[in-house]
Amino acid sequence: MPRVKVINYYIYTIPNRGIMYLTREQEQILNGEKGEILQRMFRLLTRLGDIYKADKMIPIGSVQVAGVSYKSIGDPGLEFLEDLAHKGARVQVLTFLNPAGMDLEEWDILGFPHDFSAKQLRIITAFKEMGIVPTATCTPYLIGNLPRFGEHLAWSESSAVSFANSVIGARTNREGGPSALAAALCGLTPNYGLHLPGNRIPEVVIEVKAQMGTLADFGALGHLVGKQVRSKIPYFTGIFDVTSDHLKSLGAAMAASGAVALYHIKDITPESHLMDVKGLETIHVTQKDIKETYESLNQGTNPDIIIFGCPHSSLREIIHLAKKIEGKKLKKPVWICTSRAMKEIANRMGLTSIIEKAGGKLVADTCMVVSPLEQMGYSTTAVNSAKAAQYLPGFCKQTVVYGNIDDLLKEQIK
Ligand code: F3S
Repeated sequence: MPRVKVINYYIYTIPNRGIMYLTREQEQILNGEKGEILQRMFRLLTRLGDIYKADKMIPIGSVQVAGVSYKSIGDPGLEFLEDLAHKGARVQVLTFLNPAGMDLEEWDILGFPHDFSAKQLRIITAFKEMGIVPTATCTPYLIGNLPRFGEHLAWSESSAVSFANSVIGARTNREGGPSALAAALCGLTPNYGLHLPGNRIPEVVIEVKAQMGTLADFGALGHLVGKQVRSKIPYFTGIFDVTSDHLKSLGAAMAASGAVALYHIKDITPESHLMDVKGLETIHVTQKDIKETYESLNQGTNPDIIIFGCPHSSLREIIHLAKKIEGKKLKKPVWICTSRAMKEIANRMGLTSIIEKAGGKLVADTCMVVSPLEQMGYSTTAVNSAKAAQYLPGFCKQTVVYGNIDDLLKEQIK
């Protein structure tokens, strides 16, 4: 590759495309002087940087890797990861995993197929060998991977990316599984997209005139807005008094129905006061719009199973759900998906036992979308997550019942 030395940097040039400044050490990685794996991974990052005209590589604080479920990556993915692990690939920064295809401890009790489970466990072992934290969640910011404002990251899962950018004010593009893994092994990511302040400016104002209350309301709002704005950056007005759970629900839905990786909310999200929205196109969202979105997401009746926790439930959500069903008996299976660390806290608080006595399950490490629900005999699933409602028909061949927690549970309590 042609190069020119400029003081402490090398300029890495690709004919007719652009230039990227590489440090001496990065140049050595690219030349294979630090081993074949790093060379392969760094090449992937430089190609990505080239496509998006990045000027340099930047160090990152943490990584979140998607492509963990055996259902998503299959045998080719499993073999690729085992090969990397056996060849000595090791991550250089704190790296977490996205949900796997099953509860990594209680998969047998929950009825996950044995052949699927064996391969899923091999995937987790390979990641663990690479030094990745062997926990699987889309809410890493709740359990030990909390970035700071302005920190650069390479995260993959779209709701986590949205939360990190919007609610925390960290900076990450939405990485694919391979680019996130490459970033973890190199400790670097190309400097483009949402890493640059100039690309974090709102492009459309969303004026919310509807009454917002439940997680399902915020999911419906996100679903509606994501469909309309696609990948633009929205700036919301008319949203007050929200919890971080409402925000994760909103962001997850916008990332699923559109490709929104960053949003701002007036007086709530940390960059909102820096933004000038004068003259931007404004979209109004009314109560009628939210009602119609509920109706469009709600395709079925009489669910086989009710699953909460997309994105993974926070402790606040688990407490809320446990209180709702305490002392009651559920007619149908109810899963509450969360991270393993959150389940440990719920165990200590006696919440898991309250949920199980009612007939529900606190399911860790996985979720309704990446688990093989269709192979487990379920065909209609009720959810309060617009993201799950969007993906369940295609990914898991499910008919979806969409509603808020109270309405979904009302039908199921004996
Ligand atoms: Fe998380 Fe699965 Fe939803 S990865 S955001 S719970 S689809």
